[in-house]
Amino acid sequence: LSSIRVDVSGVSKGSQITVQWLGKPVFIRRRTPTEIEEGRAVDLSQLIDPIARNENIQGEADAVDENRTLDPDGQWLVMMGVCTHLGCVPLGNGAGDFDGWFCPCHGSHYDTAGRIRRGPAPQNLPVPVAAFDGETTIVLG
Ligand code: FES
Repeated sequence: LSSIRVDVSGVSKGSQITVQWLGKPVFIRRRTPTEIEEGRAVDLSQLIDPIARNENIQGEADAVDENRTLDPDGQWLVMMGVCTHLGCVPLGNGAGDFDGWFCPCHGSHYDTAGRIRRGPAPQNLPVPVAAFDGETTIVLG
């Protein structure tokens, strides 16, 4: 598995970058306190896909907000930028009805934790193997 290092020192709260990894886009977002609050306020029963889909957690963890982010504070969200319906790249920066991402291909809405909330996509956006190396570098893979 090839890994890459991403400098996130320039990513301020409420913004995101997209990097290419293994030929696919990966979204790296630094969430605002409001986005974190919104994500954490969601009850599991409201979710279409209740599974975390986070490769950094062993087994099938549930999709609470805390199981989706890279850091305990919940600022950093790293996910594949590939819609789980048919693979389009969702729009970000608060897009869609749940302030997260919106896939324009067939109308899937993802929330501030990248969880599918409405539309045809069956699963949350997957969280790839990722970890911080120091405070400003994220290693993918
Ligand atoms: Fe995203 Fe169909 S590919 S909704």
